[in-house]
Amino acid sequence: MHEETIVLERTADIAVLQACGALRGSVAQFAQPRGANLMRRTEALDAWCHLRATHGLWQYGRAHDGAPNPQSRVGDADAAPGSAADGMDFTSRDYLSLASHPALREAARAALAEAGPHGTGPALLLGDSALSLALEAALAELLQLRHVTLFPTGWGAAFGVITALANARDYVLVDQLAHASLRQGAQAATRNVALHRHLDTGHVRELLAAIRARDVENGILVVTEGLFGMDADVPDLPLMQHLCREYNATLLVDVAHDLGALGPGGTGSLGQQAMLGKVDLVTGSFAKTFASNGGFVASGSHAVKRQLQLFAGPHLCSNALSPVQAACVLAALRIVAGEEGDTLREALLRNAVALRASLAETGMRCLGVPSAIVPLWIGNEQVARLAGRTLARAGMLVDAVEYPGVPLGAARLRLQVMAGHRPAQLREGARTIGAAVSGAGAALGIEPARQPWPRWRAHG
Ligand SMILES: Cc1ncc(COP(=O)(O)O)c(C=O)c1O
Repeated sequence: MHEETIVLERTADIAVLQACGALRGSVAQFAQPRGANLMRRTEALDAWCHLRATHGLWQYGRAHDGAPNPQSRVGDADAAPGSAADGMDFTSRDYLSLASHPALREAARAALAEAGPHGTGPALLLGDSALSLALEAALAELLQLRHVTLFPTGWGAAFGVITALANARDYVLVDQLAHASLRQGAQAATRNVALHRHLDTGHVRELLAAIRARDVENGILVVTEGLFGMDADVPDLPLMQHLCREYNATLLVDVAHDLGALGPGGTGSLGQQAMLGKVDLVTGSFAKTFASNGGFVASGSHAVKRQLQLFAGPHLCSNALSPVQAACVLAALRIVAGEEGDTLREALLRNAVALRASLAETGMRCLGVPSAIVPLWIGNEQVARLAGRTLARAGMLVDAVEYPGVPLGAARLRLQVMAGHRPAQLREGARTIGAAVSGAGAALGIEPARQPWPRWRAHG
């Protein structure tokens, strides 16, 4: 695929989109529907999504047909069977390309043959298996935290650890850009939730001091991520943990995006910042680098593990990871922690740097630091939607992200690089993406490169 194959939006098409309203509005306006009938009041959102889909502006209704790879086969959920097409894929969370690794496929086959496809209950009620216990031990070794509890999803782990440990009288301080699982966990645990400015340790200190000035009786949980999923930036973990100790608070770090994919031996931001075994609580997901569903919480405390087993709903009351999932993650962990992991991480980082450089050459701006996540800043939702449509029509797969994934006015194309992308694909992808974004901006009379940088990155 070449830049020339892109069909840029014509003025007449834009006029149609503007007249019918498909470019306007946001999911945000449907977040709190009113009316006595809970089912009927969902219809306005459905009609608005349908309007967007009719005009090729609904970026969510696609499905892989086969394995996600740098070049994937993708169909539209509403289209006729057999109408899937190949496209260059920048949407996969399979950061080290392990989903297609023969060792993982073999591990899955062996677990299926030996233990079958299904765990038979929640972990506490015989849902655990020899494989899941081995996985807990392997994770404990990687993180240097002795007590690991597995969850069916990373979402459940993040939500579960907060709701199991914090109660109504406690306080939760969450980074304003933290993942929904963390923010919703905080809201479910207590009304005493404060969002702190993104990565702003001065603000964390201010909030901690204000709470401790009036309340020394109750707990404070401070929540951040090892690598932020939408902005690809990293907090100062030693300082965050130091502040928590100073104010008798507890730190929770979600390493969903960095564990395995970054850092020495795949230890993520914790390893990069010499914080292995030194952070109070670590949660994460297997759904990115580890090629499986599932999540975990790790700490140095057996008592915390017991509390999670009995009070974290998504662990206690939900079916455990299946033996096949546990076997895949175990096989992935072995690769991650070994020499092959180093080689794959080098390839991933090289690809991330190359993609960012090629995008910069087209005049585009990326947020954050080099990692598997390459967020291409756009700001305006209409430009992101239109660029997404142009790219989809050119057979290129990217996530056009807007609210509720990010705040209003902070739209971006979120590209994910894999270790398996080839240099030529990255160059060609960047050229095509750059042309689609500037074409969309020109069609709408908005220059994407001049869109104001997000408020939380005013220094950017
Ligand atoms: C920081 C963070 N935590 C948790 C999750 C949820 O993980 P899972 O998909 O395993 O439920 C995500 C998913 O993107 C995430 O970005």
